[in-house]
Amino acid sequence: MVYKFIDNFGTFRIDDPYGYNLYFPLTNKDGSLLSSISPNLAGDIKKDNEHFLTVPAGIEDLRSSLLCRREFFIRTGRQTLRLSFPGKHDVVEAGFLYHKVIKSAPGLGIEIVNFIPFDAAVEVMWVKVCNKSRAAVTLSPTSFIPLFGRSEKNLRDHRHVSSLLNRVYLDQFGIRLRPTMVFDERGHRINTDEYFVYGFEGSGKPPEGQFPTLDYFYGRGDILSPDAVEREVVPARQKRTVFDGKEACAAFRFADKRLLPGEETGYFLVMGVEDSPEKAGKAFQRFNTDSKIRKSLEDTKVYWRRYLSTLAFDFNDAVFNNWLLWVTFQPTLRKLFGCSFLPHFDYGKGGRGWRDLWQDALTLLVTESETAGGLIVSNFKGVRIDGSNATIITKDGDFIADRNRISRVWMDHGVWPYLTLREYVHRTGDIRILLEETSYFRDHQLKRARAVDISFVQKDYLLRSSKGEVLRGTILEHVLVQMLAQFFNVGRHNVIRLENADWNDGLDMAPSRGESAAFSFMYAYNLRDLCVLLTKLREITAAVTVPEELGLLLDRLQSPVDYNDFREKQKRLGLYFEAVKNMSGDRRKISLEDLIRDLQEKASHMSAWLREKQWLKEGFFNGYYDDDSLPVEGRIRGDIRMTLPSQVFAIMSGVATDEQTKSIWRSVNKYLKDKRLGCFHLNTDFGSVYMKLGRAYGFSYGDKENGAFFSHMVVMFANALYKRGFVTEGFEVINSLFKMAVGPQAYINPVLPEYFNAEGKGLYAYLTGSASWFVHTLLGEVLGIKFRFGDLVLEPKLLPANFFAQDIRVSLRSAGGTMRFVFTRDKNISRIIGRGTACRAPTVTKVLLGDLPVPVVRGEYLIKRAALLRAGKEGRVIQVNID
Ligand code: G1P
Repeated sequence: MVYKFIDNFGTFRIDDPYGYNLYFPLTNKDGSLLSSISPNLAGDIKKDNEHFLTVPAGIEDLRSSLLCRREFFIRTGRQTLRLSFPGKHDVVEAGFLYHKVIKSAPGLGIEIVNFIPFDAAVEVMWVKVCNKSRAAVTLSPTSFIPLFGRSEKNLRDHRHVSSLLNRVYLDQFGIRLRPTMVFDERGHRINTDEYFVYGFEGSGKPPEGQFPTLDYFYGRGDILSPDAVEREVVPARQKRTVFDGKEACAAFRFADKRLLPGEETGYFLVMGVEDSPEKAGKAFQRFNTDSKIRKSLEDTKVYWRRYLSTLAFDFNDAVFNNWLLWVTFQPTLRKLFGCSFLPHFDYGKGGRGWRDLWQDALTLLVTESETAGGLIVSNFKGVRIDGSNATIITKDGDFIADRNRISRVWMDHGVWPYLTLREYVHRTGDIRILLEETSYFRDHQLKRARAVDISFVQKDYLLRSSKGEVLRGTILEHVLVQMLAQFFNVGRHNVIRLENADWNDGLDMAPSRGESAAFSFMYAYNLRDLCVLLTKLREITAAVTVPEELGLLLDRLQSPVDYNDFREKQKRLGLYFEAVKNMSGDRRKISLEDLIRDLQEKASHMSAWLREKQWLKEGFFNGYYDDDSLPVEGRIRGDIRMTLPSQVFAIMSGVATDEQTKSIWRSVNKYLKDKRLGCFHLNTDFGSVYMKLGRAYGFSYGDKENGAFFSHMVVMFANALYKRGFVTEGFEVINSLFKMAVGPQAYINPVLPEYFNAEGKGLYAYLTGSASWFVHTLLGEVLGIKFRFGDLVLEPKLLPANFFAQDIRVSLRSAGGTMRFVFTRDKNISRIIGRGTACRAPTVTKVLLGDLPVPVVRGEYLIKRAALLRAGKEGRVIQVNID
C-alpha cells in the first residue's frame, strides 16, 4: 500500500507520492465539471469532450508533459520554486472529494488544495504559503495554467489553426478565453463559451497583472525557463491585439508579499467553463474570498460524507472499511465521468456504455434508491426491436447508436438489463414495473447490424409502425425481445453468435462465424429466471400483449422450431427480422401460463445443450468459437487454452453442475491462478495474435483483456461461486482482489482498479464495473442480505476470515428509513470449514428484529417487507448470530 488512511472517512496520505503515476478524480454532485489531478498537479479540467479548459491529459502526459500541469511559481530572492516539481518530503492527502499536496521547501511550508465544490462547476486551487523560517521572506508568486479552450479532438486536428480562433479578455481578477468559433469541418459554429480562470490573494486582492499567452509568458525562454518568471517581464493589465490568435494561459503575477516568521498567506484560483461572461463572473463571485472557499471546502466534505453514509459498512477494520468507502463510491464516479475523462480512460466521449450503465445500477439501486425505478424504465428505451440496443447513453439520458459511428453489436448486451431489473424487482417488490411502458430505439441499423436502412432519416430515434405511430411496449416486452431474438441468433454450433464481441470487448474479430457460449449460459439463465418473475406477475394479471411479430419467436405457442437444428433457428430469426422492418402495430394477447411454458422449454434446451456440448474432457467449458468456427478453449495444438468468463457464466447461470463446478475450480487453480499473487488471470497465454478472434490477443499478455487479473471477471467469479454455495472458494476469489488492491505491488490509490497487470500493478482506476459487482457481491452473497419480492431473506455466507472482530455492521438508508444489520460471530466460529464441498455455508443460529426473534420458516429467515419498513422507521436493528 502506498497510502495510509488517517481517519474513518476514507482520507488517506501518500508519502513521496511521485513514483507511481497516480491520479485522482475531482467533480461535483452532478458531474458538470470533471477534473483529474496527480501529485505533480498534472491532469485536466473539462466539462465534456467538446469543452476542455486545460490541455487534455492521458496517463503518460501526467509525468511526461509540463503543459498539462497546474503550475505555480514562487520566487524568494535567490530561488524559484516550482510547485509541480517533486520535493523531497512531499506528501499527498486526499479525501472525499479534494486533493492536497503538502510540500516543504527551505524555510516555507506549502499546501496546494484542489477541489470542485459539490454544488458548483468550478475547480478551486488554493495555494497556502507559510513562512517557517526565523527571518522575514519576500514572495513573488506567479500562477501558470495553460488553457486549451476547445474540443479534445483539436489536440491533433488543426491544433495550431484552432488556436488562431482564440480571443482573450483580461479583467482585474483574471482571464476569459472565448474562441471566435468552434472549429469543426463538418460545420463551423460561432462559439459562445467562456473558459475562465480568476485569481486573488488572501481575502480578495487581485493579481497585479498577467501573461495571457504562451508567447508572452515564455518570451525567449520556454516552459522550463519562462521569461515571465526568470526575467523582468512586465505583466499586462489590459488586452493587446497581439494576444489574439495565440495559445492562451492563465498566468497571473501576484504582488510581492513580505511574510514575517510564522505568517501565512493564500493564493486562490477559480477555474471553469460557462456559456456567458455574466455566468463566468457569477461563478467567480461565489468564491472570491478566502472565507467563502474555506467554507465551501468544508461543505463539500460534509456533502460527500453524507452521500456515502447511505450504504455504510463497518467491518471493524480501518483499512477494509476505508477502502470499501472508495469502492462504494466508484459507481457514482462512473455515473458522473462515464467511461472517459480520467487519464487511463482516454477514449470515449463521456457517455456510459450500455453494459456499464446497467451494472453500475446494481449499486446505485442501493445508494440512489429513490430514482432507481424511473431510471430503469427510461434506460429500456435504448432497446431495438431486433434485440440489440443503442450503446451509449449521454448524461441527459439520450441514446446514441455507437460512439464511433460503427455499425456493430455486442452479443452480451441483452443479458445485463434483465439482471438489474430482477434485482430491482426483488429489492422493492415492484413487480408492476414489468407492465410499465416505454418506446424502442430505431436507427439505420437493422437485423442486429447485418443490414442498413439507407432510407432511414434521422428524426427522433423512435420505432414507428408502418402507419407512422410511435410504438411503445412494456418493460416485459423489451426484455422478451432481447432474450428471444438472441435465443434464435445462433451459429453453426447452435450457440449464440459472438457478433462484434461480448463482455470482452477485445473479442472483436469474429463477427461472421464466432460464437459465445460464455454468454449463451447467461441467456439460458435469464430465460429461466424470468419465469419466476412471470409466476409472480400472474398474481396481478393472467395475460399480456406483445407485438404481433414477436409471436414468431414464441414458437412453442404455434409452429415449433426444432431447437437442435441451428438452421431452423436462423431461419425463424430471419422471418422475424423481415417482419419487424415494417411493424404492423398489431398486438397479440398471450396468457402468462403459455409464455412461461415457451420460455421454460427454451431455457431447458439451451442449458442442456451447453452443459453437454461445451464441456471439455480437460475439465472445464469451452466458451467460444472463432471466425473459422473452431473452438477456442481446451487443448489446442498441444497447449491448454482456457478463459475465465466461460467458466464464470457456466457457474453463475446454474448450467454447470456441482461436479462440473468442482472440476472447473481445480482447472482454474491449475491454469489461471497466479501462485505468487494469489489472483486469477482472465485467460491462459495463447502465445500469439489471434486475428480470427480479436484485438485482445495483440495486447501484451497480462494486460487488459489478454490475461490480466481483470477485477470485473474475478469478482463475478466470486459471485458465481458464492451463489452456488462454494463459499470458501468464493471468499478466496473475492479476497484476492482486496489483497491485490492493498498489496505493496499495486502502487495505486485506495480503489478497486479495472485490472492488475502481470506484476500486480493496478491500472485504470475508479471507472470500472468491478466496483459495483464487488459491493453487490459483498451485500447479497457474503453478507447474504437478499431480497425476494420486497421481503428480506437472510442468507449470510460469512466465514471466520470475514471477521476482523466480533461484529460486522451494515446500514442501508433510503427514503423509508434506515435498515441496520449487526452480524455477530459466535465464539467457536474460528474452526475452519473444509474445502471442496458445496453448500456448506456457516449456519445462522439466531436472528432478532429489535428484541423479537425472527422464526425460521421453510428453512429461511425471512422478514416481510412491511415489518422491514417499520423496523427501518423505528431504527430497530436486525441482529444476526452466526456459528
Ligand atoms: C471494461 C468495460 C466493460 C467491458 C470490460 C471488458 O471493464 O467498461 O464494458 O466489459 O472492460 O472488455 P470495466 O472497466 O468496467 O471493469
